Amino acid sequence: MFRTLASTVLALAACAGAKWIVPGARWYDTDGNLFNAHAGGLCVDQETGKFYWFGEYKVQGQVEGGGISVYSSDDLATWTSHGLALTPIENHTYVSNHNRIQRPKVIYSEETGEYHMWWHADDDSYSWLLQGLATSPNIAGPYTFVSATSPLGNWSQDFGAFTDYKSGRSYALYSNGDRVEGRDVYLSRFNENLTAVEEVTYRFPKYDFEAPTIIQTEKSYFALMSHKTGYRPNNVVALRADNLEGPWSQPFFVSPAYTRTFSTQSGFSWRIAGSKKTTYLYMADQWDLNSLWESRNVWLPIEIDERDGSLEVVWHDIYDLNVKTGEWKPIKGKTYISKHAELSGQAYLQEASFASGNRIATGIYGNDSKVTFTVDGQGTDQWVSFYHQNIDDMGFGDQPQGQPDRINGTWQLRRISSVIVNGDEENVHTLYQKDTHKGIILSTPLLLPLKEGKNTITVGGLYNGFDYKGADLDRIVVYPPEGGRNKGKRFWWW
Ligand SMILES: *[C@@H]1O[C@H](CO)[C@@H](O)[C@H](O)[C@H]1NC(C)=O
Ligand SMILES: *[C@@H]1O[C@H](CO)[C@@H](O)[C@H](O)[C@H]1NC(C)=O
Ligand SMILES: *[C@@H]1O[C@H](CO)[C@@H](O)[C@H](O)[C@H]1NC(C)=O
Ligand SMILES: *[C@@H]1O[C@H](CO)[C@@H](O)[C@H](O)[C@H]1NC(C)=O
Ligand SMILES: *[C@@H]1O[C@H](CO)[C@@H](O)[C@H](O)[C@H]1NC(C)=O
Repeated sequence: MFRTLASTVLALAACAGAKWIVPGARWYDTDGNLFNAHAGGLCVDQETGKFYWFGEYKVQGQVEGGGISVYSSDDLATWTSHGLALTPIENHTYVSNHNRIQRPKVIYSEETGEYHMWWHADDDSYSWLLQGLATSPNIAGPYTFVSATSPLGNWSQDFGAFTDYKSGRSYALYSNGDRVEGRDVYLSRFNENLTAVEEVTYRFPKYDFEAPTIIQTEKSYFALMSHKTGYRPNNVVALRADNLEGPWSQPFFVSPAYTRTFSTQSGFSWRIAGSKKTTYLYMADQWDLNSLWESRNVWLPIEIDERDGSLEVVWHDIYDLNVKTGEWKPIKGKTYISKHAELSGQAYLQEASFASGNRIATGIYGNDSKVTFTVDGQGTDQWVSFYHQNIDDMGFGDQPQGQPDRINGTWQLRRISSVIVNGDEENVHTLYQKDTHKGIILSTPLLLPLKEGKNTITVGGLYNGFDYKGADLDRIVVYPPEGGRNKGKRFWWW
């Protein structure tokens, strides 16, 4: 009953108006469950033209071994679950729940008439470094295991795949491991029937990058990859070339330095050749190392300037994408800065040259030291983005990029704030605030029930396993209701 009603309400909402893309939010499928497909990739159904997204399925307490989930969508915003496309098989050598089944990519093979799923296949200590292949006549699966092989005798770790829209040929992208003999990223052409990698097209030598993907424009190829910092984000880079065989440019950052690509890791990208515009999407993971199953998806438009070969991933809290025309537009919200908010307890405004109005709210802590914003609402659920700075952790392992403000000497990846709307303490909303560099302000969205007229939004600190500190707050932005005319309580079960 619950699910049926929820899907009905969502289906109505989907008709009422375009659904927006909200990077870094909790995404829910049409059954009301968390969108659970990490390090994934898209494939289009040959017959229906529908999008299918495949990714690693992760549940609470289980980091690996969940198999590969699949969702379908017409608009890249509304997703319907089709369960597992590849289900782990007990005691199987390559696809048991003790194996690594990571970074799946699905490509249709015209020769075999089947969908081919490729992934990074490994044991639990990453000692094999293989590529897995499973096939299915149906895009949503179930997929049947075919093989786990080493491409042309080489190691293969983080896996990506890409199809050249001009030649129609598909390519595998893979880093060849962390050992000194490896540390390359390979770009290799698949054979015509997509059953094996047949030739190395280019080797990105010794950069020690991973999580590769390629975006193709009219003139260029851009390969995006991350540095290797595990599940911690870093500054993703791009390299450009006229031909896949190279020469390739020097790597360059794809977003402002120190934002760590808005706390994300690359992994997939997509070209939407719409009727009015070609749009490129960066489709990344915002990993949560403390609880991987809660990791978010961050999909953002990519801006490319062919004149100087530059590419930029640009942050938008919310945008409206039309996959038919290729057009998209950022949604405009109303900004409320901390400088004009009400502070209580030990919370105070501190001078900060990088903050809105030269002041940032700091000292937010537990139940007593809080910041309260008074905002206008429209009597429905509305997205609110919270812009914070959290400098608990400024480095990674042996690559510190500054001194951390550690909580009791422990590296921390996130603070957690409580968000209370109109004093309703029964319904505390949880806001994860990932670490940033000093002076870097990033945002996290929450969907909040606002009433018509004035509302208060109060931010305090919640326990993150170490302390009750909330991150420093710069401002919040309140967005109009999604779909415009949909005024009902759409997400009533939140
Ligand atoms: C898997 O292996 C274990 C240990 O050898 C065995 O007890 C179990 O029956 C096996 N399961 C299947 C489905 O073969
Ligand atoms: C496999 O990797 C080794 C070491 O990086 C390299 O020398 C060799 O050329 C690679 N083979 C192929 C076919 O790329
Ligand atoms: C795919 O093509 C290769 C030759 O490139 C051939 O050896 C193989 O049998 C083909 N496999 C299928 C499933 O068609
Ligand atoms: C905040 O209030 C809750 C509920 O009253 C309580 O459980 C929690 O310990 C308080 N936290 C702090 C840091 O005071
Ligand atoms: C921080 O360290 C002190 C001294 O070791 C200890 O008493 C305190 O409980 C610690 N606090 C947290 C939040 O771990």
